[in-house]
Amino acid sequence: MLERIEKIEAEASAAIEAAVDTTELEELRVRHLGRKAELTGILRGIAELPAEERGRVGGGANRARKALEELLERRAGELDATELEQRLAADTVDVTLPGAPALPAGHLHLITRTTRQIEDVMIGLGYHVVEGPEVEHDYYNFTALNHPPGHPARMLQDTFYIQSHPEVLLRTHTSPVQIRAMETQGPPIFVIVPGKVYRRDSDATHSPMFHQVEGLAIGEGITLADLQGTLEELLRAIFGAGREARMRPHFFPFTEPSVEFDVSCFQCEGSGELAGGERCNLCKGQGWIEVGGAGMVDPNVLGFVAANGYDPERVQGFAFGMGVERIAMLRHAVPDLRRFFDNDVRMLEQFS
Ligand code: DAH
Repeated sequence: MLERIEKIEAEASAAIEAAVDTTELEELRVRHLGRKAELTGILRGIAELPAEERGRVGGGANRARKALEELLERRAGELDATELEQRLAADTVDVTLPGAPALPAGHLHLITRTTRQIEDVMIGLGYHVVEGPEVEHDYYNFTALNHPPGHPARMLQDTFYIQSHPEVLLRTHTSPVQIRAMETQGPPIFVIVPGKVYRRDSDATHSPMFHQVEGLAIGEGITLADLQGTLEELLRAIFGAGREARMRPHFFPFTEPSVEFDVSCFQCEGSGELAGGERCNLCKGQGWIEVGGAGMVDPNVLGFVAANGYDPERVQGFAFGMGVERIAMLRHAVPDLRRFFDNDVRMLEQFS
């Protein structure tokens, strides 16, 4: 009997050592240690053996069983590790790979690109980019920007108010960030503010949501001449090296004096006439194209942030604001501003 046990153990050990995968190993376990296995049968029959054989046979069979169990466990560990390695090698899913078929990489929206171009120019002039909330308080959007009570811009026709909170609104311009920036940083300050603004307006040149870029420069001895030079630098970067900037008197509550600024027409080179002698359609024969509003920041505005070092007797400066869509439309001859937001890829793909 002991010989038989030794033979079973030897055969089973050899088979287990030679097993090539965990499935085969499991079959071997059932065959050699399962309920119907010979060794199991021997162990079960020990009680019926003559008393003098029980000890030796029982001991031998138990030892063989334990040895096989240990061997199975070791071999399972080895095979598990190899199989995992093989699976990892075969199953690799690289989630960073492009899909199949590969989709072409997208590109920035023309409005984003135009905004970034403006930012780049201004960063080059030493400005910092800052942002502010689109859901704004009446105080920042109007009051601190010197809009007297009852100013038409506050009226419901232009402004989206939050119904439950009449003093909260969707900002109608990026100018409120002038105040927010000056609240967080004393003079001198040079910031550029890109962002979305909202007005109740919708036609070929107006959309209820559009983008502006605001500029603010406050320090000692900053003048309207600095504004002129800054606008020239910016407009030449956007519209071409030969461009001129022009300021015309205008009115804004938060600047004094206020101006609107124009760029010389890049289609007719400012002459108002095309090669054939006909009227330039881009500037309507004017030679100039309106770009935005600007002016010297009203001392009353600085008064709202005087506690932060903006003493109107000591510091002064300029601000300007312009619409990003308008600039993109001019540069790329886009006839309808609303097309920017239809998300029709046939339109957007043209500006890659
Ligand atoms: N906030 C004005 C608008 O939305 C544009 C503007 C005008 C901004 C004059 C300025 C400025 O900073 O000085 O129409």
